[in-house]
Amino acid sequence: MVHLEQKRRAYLQAMGIDVWLSRDAEQRVAEADAEPALDLDWPELRQCVASCTRCELSASRTNTVFGVGNQQADWLIIGEAPGAEEDRRGEPFVGRAGQLLDQMLLAIGQSRESVFIANILKCRPPHNRDPKPTEAAACRGYLERQIELVQPKIILAVGKIAAQNLLDSGDPVGRMRGRPHDLGGIPLVVTYHPAYLLRSPSQKHKSWSDLCLAKRLADEVSA
Ligand code: URA
Repeated sequence: MVHLEQKRRAYLQAMGIDVWLSRDAEQRVAEADAEPALDLDWPELRQCVASCTRCELSASRTNTVFGVGNQQADWLIIGEAPGAEEDRRGEPFVGRAGQLLDQMLLAIGQSRESVFIANILKCRPPHNRDPKPTEAAACRGYLERQIELVQPKIILAVGKIAAQNLLDSGDPVGRMRGRPHDLGGIPLVVTYHPAYLLRSPSQKHKSWSDLCLAKRLADEVSA
């Protein structure tokens, strides 16, 4: 019931229609908004993200960046947040870092089309600042529902923000990478963000070893 109300409101908002609710209904929707994406299917989830106003980033975004790729992918790649180009085009990892990510994927026999790529945040933080914890928390339900829908064999967290948020850790990437983690039963590997690798190409060999570990883990799940 609550979710129906939530969906109805999301659709109406997406159509630009103001929604007036009784105090009771407001309360129920507020409670449902704390878990924004519980049982939504792909089109509903996409719609919900497109009309999201759960944090202040909705005011400055050009486009939401939902995620892209194969909805039944074995590999789920999770980055930080959209940058300027992603905000403009509504697609994740389309700038220079994205080109390097594409090359990294090709090196392990995957492609943008075979994996699913998403971010911790669906909207661009102004001036590409780090996501605030409140923004990551507001967006978390969308990503959790994407993980449930994709059911990947392996999650690759690229960069500090993705890894720290997903693993609820304050450790640097150097301490989280190079070993398997578990996210609700799904193996997760941490590696450096491609934007960092562009600045520090000498670290690429470590990312290569992380990708090989991720591939081994994904293959084990398939076996
Ligand atoms: N960096 C990210 O973490 N995500 C993007 O979508 C683009 C750049």
